[in-house]
Amino acid sequence: MSLERTLTVRVERISRETPEILAFELTHPWGRTLPGYEAGAHIDVHMPGGFSRQYSLARWSAGAPSNAASYVIGVKREAASRGGSASMHERVREGDLLAISAPRNTFPLREEAKHHLLLAGGIGMTPLLAMAQALAARGADFTFCVFARSEEHLAFADALRDLALAPHLRLHLDQGDASQRIDLHALLADRAPGTHLYVCGPGGFMRAVREAAAHWPDDALHAEYFAAPANANTTTGLPFTLKLAQRGIRVPVAADQTAVDALHEVGIDIPVSCQQGLCGTCVVEGDGEGAEHRDFCLTGSERRHKVALCCSRAKGQELVLQL
Ligand code: FES
Repeated sequence: MSLERTLTVRVERISRETPEILAFELTHPWGRTLPGYEAGAHIDVHMPGGFSRQYSLARWSAGAPSNAASYVIGVKREAASRGGSASMHERVREGDLLAISAPRNTFPLREEAKHHLLLAGGIGMTPLLAMAQALAARGADFTFCVFARSEEHLAFADALRDLALAPHLRLHLDQGDASQRIDLHALLADRAPGTHLYVCGPGGFMRAVREAAAHWPDDALHAEYFAAPANANTTTGLPFTLKLAQRGIRVPVAADQTAVDALHEVGIDIPVSCQQGLCGTCVVEGDGEGAEHRDFCLTGSERRHKVALCCSRAKGQELVLQL
């Protein structure tokens, strides 16, 4: 198993966005530009203490797709932190160097959409802010709904005040004016043709949106998770065999093994990062129809021909991969 190649960046600026969220601006250590990215992309951050976490890039600019002057990420200090967010909040200082991955985008804007509906809950603002900025720049038809507890808990409030976003922005504050609160069921009751929904936020918010949009077609619903839901099983299941079409060999996967572990045992290196089906690093081409998909990053149409090997298994006894 291997991690992807890393880049070194300098922590240029740390700013407090809310009592729980810090924004980190990351630049090239020698002032060069960083690899470009599309709105919705994320990076892996390898932090002090040996932790690695995925963070969405929170700002988008016209030059971002080709090369970026800096990356901005938002890090919420989680009460139940397993070390990642606490490490970023307590141990990382301005001027420090960090290793990161190049940006990857498993949450892209859909070119075929006629209208984009962006729903951001709390720290879930980060990828959706970049997407809203990209849509505003291209004059697209979109609505950006931001949910926060109060003004004090609203991250990236300065960016939200941008006049280019104002006509598209709906702000829901739990402790704010009742008349401005957004009723998810009413908002999602009817889907105008061509509308695509993008959602990112804490687990409860994601569940509420998915329930309210249960009648939407799968391919019009796009979600970015921070962590696998508590009841997700991403590691074990029935044993099966991987058939590697290009190599012409079969590799057995034991009940308590993942496909990447089994491939690693026979010397086939598949890059991994989150190992929870979130980031897309381990995704390969294959017979998606024959897979029991357990990831949280592929769309319905991608699942027909792609498989996330850190978590997904075969529906039957064999899964064909283009490896
Ligand atoms: S390693 Fe992140 S989806 Fe598999």
